Amino acid sequence: MAEQQELLTVATAMLDKAYTPYSHFHVGAAAVGASGKIYGGCNIENASFGATNCAERTAIFSGIAAGETHFTALLVTGNTDGPIAPCGICRQVIAEFFDADAPIYLTNQKGAFTATTVAAILPGAFTDLN
Ligand code: THU
Repeated sequence: MAEQQELLTVATAMLDKAYTPYSHFHVGAAAVGASGKIYGGCNIENASFGATNCAERTAIFSGIAAGETHFTALLVTGNTDGPIAPCGICRQVIAEFFDADAPIYLTNQKGAFTATTVAAILPGAFTDLN
């Protein structure tokens, strides 16, 4: 199976795991660790809305917790009309753990598929404390 199709399958399965009692908006993501393993993620909301974790960050953080330190590709999906767009916080987290030219796949559940890159979704990312 092509990597993109496998990522879409994992991310789509994550839609059912989303914890969304406030927005009822389910998001699924899948991130490929440097080891080649794929990590799924869903959005997890909170009564204190700012504590919500997006699907992209859940996938990345699950990989980090499993021992990954770097990722090579990420796919996100949702029940949107067009390809879903990651939020600004997720773009910054993606920039931390992916190369600038790593592929980011923005999809929906109706067949939309846009391939972009980390650099394209967050130009001028803050990456260096020095
Ligand atoms: N959300 C994601 O999980 N990823 C995105 O790319 C956009 C937004 C979630 C956060 C919240 O649970 C809900 O979607 C509405 O913002």
